[in-house]
Amino acid sequence: MTNEQSDYARRMEWFHQARFGMFIHWGLYAIPARGEWVMYMERIPREEYAVLAQQFNPDRFDADAWVGLAKEAGMKYMVLTTRHHDGFCLFDSQVSDFTSVKTAAKRDFVREYVEACRRAGMRIGFYYSLLDWRFPGYFLGRDKDPDSVEAMVQQYHAQVRELMTNYGKIDVLWYDGGWVPNVDGKDIADYWRSAEVNAMVRQLQPDILINNRSGIEEDLDTPEQHVTASRPGRGWESCMTIGDSCGWGYIRHNPNRKTVPQLIQYLVEAARGEGNYLLNVGPRADGTIPEEDAERLRAMGRWLEVNGEAIYGSQRCAFGGGIIGTTTAKGNTAYLHVFRWPGETACIAGVGNEVKSARLLATGQEAKITRASNGRVLLSGLPADPPDPCDTVIALELDGPPVSLPMGPL
Ligand code: GLC
Repeated sequence: MTNEQSDYARRMEWFHQARFGMFIHWGLYAIPARGEWVMYMERIPREEYAVLAQQFNPDRFDADAWVGLAKEAGMKYMVLTTRHHDGFCLFDSQVSDFTSVKTAAKRDFVREYVEACRRAGMRIGFYYSLLDWRFPGYFLGRDKDPDSVEAMVQQYHAQVRELMTNYGKIDVLWYDGGWVPNVDGKDIADYWRSAEVNAMVRQLQPDILINNRSGIEEDLDTPEQHVTASRPGRGWESCMTIGDSCGWGYIRHNPNRKTVPQLIQYLVEAARGEGNYLLNVGPRADGTIPEEDAERLRAMGRWLEVNGEAIYGSQRCAFGGGIIGTTTAKGNTAYLHVFRWPGETACIAGVGNEVKSARLLATGQEAKITRASNGRVLLSGLPADPPDPCDTVIALELDGPPVSLPMGPL
């Protein structure tokens, strides 16, 4: 291992233990309640949009309540939008007046969030959007409005410095909005001079993890609204909304929410690929998290309380779960996640190990293990109905790390 690889492995350690985090999209857009893209999608002029800052005064905001909910959900870190594409900062900035400190609320919400996280031992992430729709140069391009583009780029450099300097140790820098109209993907890092910013970030925060959205790969891949594993050894995290894909900020009426079994399956799928699941909530303008979302998170937390050993610090498992579910692993233990309970007997195929014991995490019950032809392992004596209707986990003690047998003739 090179020094660089071992430093990466060291910085990534907590992240691999964590597996589950809370994403929070919150800002002025919570007032119109049609998602965080409302300014752009409805082509709201910046002066008109800015009026929202005089109305944004979240009297029920309680950072401890957010962190408490994340804890109850079994989440180990949080990522808050310190500033989204509309340019409104939830923190105090010397280079912008468009902040929650200098408008109606007169509060540094980022500071309150950071302090609440620290009190609870929660890892801290900052989302920051490079682009800012308030700058005409963003739309017009460097040729037509070079000063505006330069001002926006300098704002990015200055604000990231503020965020990395004024709030103590930060665990994740979650960039977004690096894309620019008519600028090719490969030229994005140059447009923003991101290498310069990220070098500064690493000086200020030597242990931080930086995601891949400033035009440079850095530490983490960020599949969005789907769970897709990166190559082994590369850190990644899937971010996803509880509602359908139309918005991350608060939407007043959205009947399409994922169910608890769906959400648990996404989490398991991420854990199976040694990646994390960053699940989003969009609090209301008053600072409260909608109960429909909170109840789902609490249900996930109850499941994790029983089954967490199959998720936190999970590794890839060489054999899969077949039709009934999937697998995760840790050392010499494979975890069979049964989403579709088969009844009293379950079959796992292609297992190249000796299976020493099989235990249901939900009840502690031991299943009877029988070897059958073609590398099958049969688990019998199981209850007829699933002990956990979402995902019953069966821990399989193996004679070594999981090994899979190749498919042969039937
Ligand atoms: C997209 C959207 C943004 C959201 C982000 C989360 O890039 O522009 O609104 O914050 O995805 O991954």
